[in-house]
Amino acid sequence: MLLHQSTWAEVETYLRDKNGIIMPIGSTEQHGPIGMIGTDTICADVIAKGVGEAENAMVGPTIGVGMSEHHMRFPGSMTLKPSTLVLVVRDYVLSLAAHGFRRFLFVNGHGGNLASLQAAFSEIYGDVRQAGAADTPDLRCKALNWWQFDPLPAMGREMFGTADGSHASASEVAVAQFADAANIRDGKLDPEVAPQGSFFGADTFRERFPDGRIGSNSALASPEKGERLYAKSVEAIGDAYRAFLAEA
Ligand code: NI
Repeated sequence: MLLHQSTWAEVETYLRDKNGIIMPIGSTEQHGPIGMIGTDTICADVIAKGVGEAENAMVGPTIGVGMSEHHMRFPGSMTLKPSTLVLVVRDYVLSLAAHGFRRFLFVNGHGGNLASLQAAFSEIYGDVRQAGAADTPDLRCKALNWWQFDPLPAMGREMFGTADGSHASASEVAVAQFADAANIRDGKLDPEVAPQGSFFGADTFRERFPDGRIGSNSALASPEKGERLYAKSVEAIGDAYRAFLAEA
């Protein structure tokens, strides 16, 4: 069930015996020469919807712009300041908590969001405590990256070896291709495998990783591989969602 396609009465009915919600969050940032700028959002969105269907759970509106400061030298990239993202997440959660949602599982598509998500959760818990916990008992938030659980890392290695990479990874490009097959780009990448390394901000990122990829050969992606990764991620995140709801 998608919140934005539901009516208020359907949400009210859902809340009679459920209080969990899945919140997709991604980014709007460059993903190399053949990866869509919305890759992280597209991945989080499709996997969250898959989990929502499998678990009969409500899925909230996708947060499509994240914290992507280090991608800002590439045209099309957008970023929220960490402090803005914290407030966006806090306001999303507290809006829904006002209606009775209590367990918020963020399905995250972008590592750069994690610090802000954790900070937002602390803000939320602080707000709840100061307001008097009686209104919102056991409000809990959790953030999971769609790729974090076994067997996803091993599948990525098996499909792509070390050329899965760490940004514009072959895995994430594959999942986005599965989700949006009308927008697949081919192209020969030069070098085939992008350099590995670190960066300190937008300028060093562009200098050191001129086409936007880190360590990946995203040309190895295919929608078929993406579908396999998608299916395993939906299963793993679904397990984690059920465990989260059952937590004491
Ligand atoms: Ni990404």
